[in-house]
Amino acid sequence: MSNKYQELFTPFKIGKVTIKNRFCTGPMGISGIQGSLQDWGPNVQEYYLERARGGFGLITTGVLFADTEIDPFDPKYSKAPLYNPAVFKKGAQHLVERIEAYGAKFFCQASMGLGRVAPGYKSPSPLPNYYMPDKITTALTHDEIKRKIDQVVRTAQLYKNSGVHGVEIHAVHWGYLLDQFVMTMTNHREDEYGGSFENRMRVLKEIVEGIRQTCGDYSIVVRLGLKSYVKAFNKASLTGEEEAGRTLEEGIRVCKELEKYGVDALSVDTGTYDSFYYACPPSYMPKGHALDLYAKAKEAVNIPIMAGSRMGDPDLCLKALQQGKADAFVLARPSLADPYFPRKTERGTPEKIRPCIGCNYGCISKANDLGEFPGCAVNPRALREIEYPEKKAAFPNDIIIVGGGVAGMEAARSAIMMGHKVKLYEKSDHLGGELLAAGNRPLKGEVSDLNEWYQRELKDLNAEIHLNTEMTAEKIIDAHPDVVFLAQGASSVMPRSIVGIDHEKSVSALDAMEGSKPVGDSVVVVGGGEIGCEVAMHFVLQGKKVSLVEAMPDVMSVEFVPRQCKQMLKDMMEYHNVPVYTGHKLVEINDSGALIESSEGERKTLIADTVIMSIGMRPNPSLKEDLAGNGIDVYEIGSGKRQGNIYKAVHDAYEIVYNL
Ligand SMILES: Cc1cc2nc3c(=O)[nH]c(=O)nc-3n(C[C@H](O)[C@H](O)[C@H](O)COP(=O)(O)O)c2cc1C
Ligand code: SF4
Repeated sequence: MSNKYQELFTPFKIGKVTIKNRFCTGPMGISGIQGSLQDWGPNVQEYYLERARGGFGLITTGVLFADTEIDPFDPKYSKAPLYNPAVFKKGAQHLVERIEAYGAKFFCQASMGLGRVAPGYKSPSPLPNYYMPDKITTALTHDEIKRKIDQVVRTAQLYKNSGVHGVEIHAVHWGYLLDQFVMTMTNHREDEYGGSFENRMRVLKEIVEGIRQTCGDYSIVVRLGLKSYVKAFNKASLTGEEEAGRTLEEGIRVCKELEKYGVDALSVDTGTYDSFYYACPPSYMPKGHALDLYAKAKEAVNIPIMAGSRMGDPDLCLKALQQGKADAFVLARPSLADPYFPRKTERGTPEKIRPCIGCNYGCISKANDLGEFPGCAVNPRALREIEYPEKKAAFPNDIIIVGGGVAGMEAARSAIMMGHKVKLYEKSDHLGGELLAAGNRPLKGEVSDLNEWYQRELKDLNAEIHLNTEMTAEKIIDAHPDVVFLAQGASSVMPRSIVGIDHEKSVSALDAMEGSKPVGDSVVVVGGGEIGCEVAMHFVLQGKKVSLVEAMPDVMSVEFVPRQCKQMLKDMMEYHNVPVYTGHKLVEINDSGALIESSEGERKTLIADTVIMSIGMRPNPSLKEDLAGNGIDVYEIGSGKRQGNIYKAVHDAYEIVYNL
């Protein structure tokens, strides 16, 4: 069916290879699913195949390492295909064959290595390690560089021999090893691989030339960060000023040089680990934030520019294509959140696309920072396609869901889709629960998008929803359901012990963010966790005068906060000169505002119209005990059960529904 997005479904070429449309999956080296990637196990295959079924024209793997000799073997990262080429080839051929059935193409990344952003890896010059800045890396010897280049070339050769359609060289981005070679900040070598621009580019040149020599006209993409947004090691530049990494001018020079070497396309983005919120931007970063930079690259070269990073919006992609800012769109996290992004766009139903909320929790933090199995906050099947094949319940249940927040809505959605009979009861006059407060625009607009998505999905599924209906245990027992989900949510903690907690200036974070209580022009936010910092920034962006009070020596130091979110929130608060009173606790809310006390006992009054309390959440009273012993299966889900986040609410709901 023809629709306004048709231009996004015209083919483009990467070298000799034709990609059927403009949608490419973003490479994601997700530990946990990639496994060894020697054998392309069923979960890996199913993950990629699901994205091919979803309509992506190009599927690119996450990082695959070329090195089998120099970098230490770390089980966190997948093994190099060169460890066992025969096994790799067999698995790759099988996957390519199946991916081709959907008309998609399959490229593999080949990485020279990580350098200073991994523990114990060597880099172009001695550099502070990203994770342990007081540890200095060892410089690669000339011979090691040559061997590493050779391994990347041999890896590309293996890809070609395995039927893989192209290679993406990983990566002159995110501050990985090749990026370190190209940037003056990280390359202080005095041999032919350091110093002048030509010398810093030499490794890349030799890799591309090597692949050309051995693989002929094989398609080559380079992943390239156009600008680093770095002030110093481990210090980002929010505004892009005082650039110590790659400037846009040098980024464009790199583009031109790569075109000269014979590279077929550039997959562009921005940022490095040091400026992680540019590399892997949270929702605070506007969508399409780097499009104007991509347009500059597009003007400079004649090879396709594939635009990544916060491009998960079909209208944004269409406009960028029409304005000539990019040729194709690289969707990483949006392809996790909804593998069917292109198909829904092509069908003219973009509103059906489940939005990635840019939380960085499930995909990147769980694996990289918490050492847990990754997933996607909003798509419980992502990376679990094998564990959760689509199914219908053999014995449909009558289900009552109490509470229409995210957990309740997910339980309703998945249960109806699996064939259960569902009635959802919500005591207020609207669905969404805490999503309403959490989905503040512009910082977290995608949480509101998610709320709207759920409501549309439930409408399309003809869900039976009763608003303004408070359920009691008696009413539930009288209705004789087989299963009850209690998704009764949580409320802001408002300690009675604080003098003035009932003062008219005192407002809970939930009420302030939902807009159910007015917030004046000068605001004190009490509680510097992630939510408190987001609340503070939300009102700063509304032009209010905001101070933040936190009892601990630093903000966001108690609960886990994804490092990209934390870094960006801190930099935004610094940029907007938000006074942050760490090591202070709230003593009293009074007519002047907030009386606070430092850990040394010094008191100070912060003049404010409103004092917003963001010191935690407490589960709402549950009906669980009242329902016991009535032959009904009762499950508590969402923030009423365990404090957490959208990930836990969605995953708990889906897991239980799936196994009913
Ligand atoms: C979990 C995760 C793993 C990633 N791994 C890789 C990788 O292996 N290779 C790569 O080039 N980029 C990698 N990236 C970066 C993404 O491809 C992409 O540039 C980034 O997520 C921003 O784009 P998005 O807004 O479309 O997600 C990774 C990102 C995430 C979230
Ligand atoms: S976990 Fe969060 S950031 Fe990652 S893909 Fe899912 S919604 Fe997006």
